[in-house]
Amino acid sequence: MDSNDVSADLAHVLYTKEQIQEKITELAAQIDKDYEGRDILLVGVLKGACMVMADLSRALHSHVTMDWMAVSSYGSGTTSSGVVRILKDLDSDLMGKHVLIAEDIIDSGLTLSWLKSNLQSRGPASVEVCAMLRKPDAAKVNLDVKYVGYDIPNEFVVGYGLDVAEKFRNLDCVATIAPHVYQ
Ligand code: XMP
Ligand code: MG
Repeated sequence: MDSNDVSADLAHVLYTKEQIQEKITELAAQIDKDYEGRDILLVGVLKGACMVMADLSRALHSHVTMDWMAVSSYGSGTTSSGVVRILKDLDSDLMGKHVLIAEDIIDSGLTLSWLKSNLQSRGPASVEVCAMLRKPDAAKVNLDVKYVGYDIPNEFVVGYGLDVAEKFRNLDCVATIAPHVYQ
């Protein structure tokens, strides 16, 4: 193994590339069925949603357009406060559109709860959420999430868009990180 190999920094793989792709196929089939005859506007939140956006959009058979938002959540360190600032807004007008937010992970749910009501205020026909991962034990708000890939324990995970200091986003699996990465 190369001395700079990323796998040396991982503790435990929660979901492999194959398990993630299998889940994407399953979610896409359900979404195609639910949105039959309607176009979907996929909204991704940068940067974490890059992988779920790329994979979900390609697995869907429905007509899809894609748009991106960048937000910053004010809070101490790694905890979300629910106070959100828009760094990059959508290019699209949401009026009458069926919006599906593609998310990497739902932790407290505060960011998504803010985002959902923000998008809802722009006159779309509908707003739903598809998140690859969710931490049910970390939930601080009751959030209606129509499509969820996997519910995971309340642990910090990386890969499939998720990062530590911008690293690990490119992993095709979801994993916990080894203690030496934090030190
Ligand atoms: P809230 O708490 O508002 O925050 O649901 C969601 C955002 O927090 C980040 N997040 C993580 N990032 N590993 C990460 O790399 C994690 O385990 C994790 N949990 C939350 C992420 O940006 C998500 O959109
Ligand atoms: Mg992040």
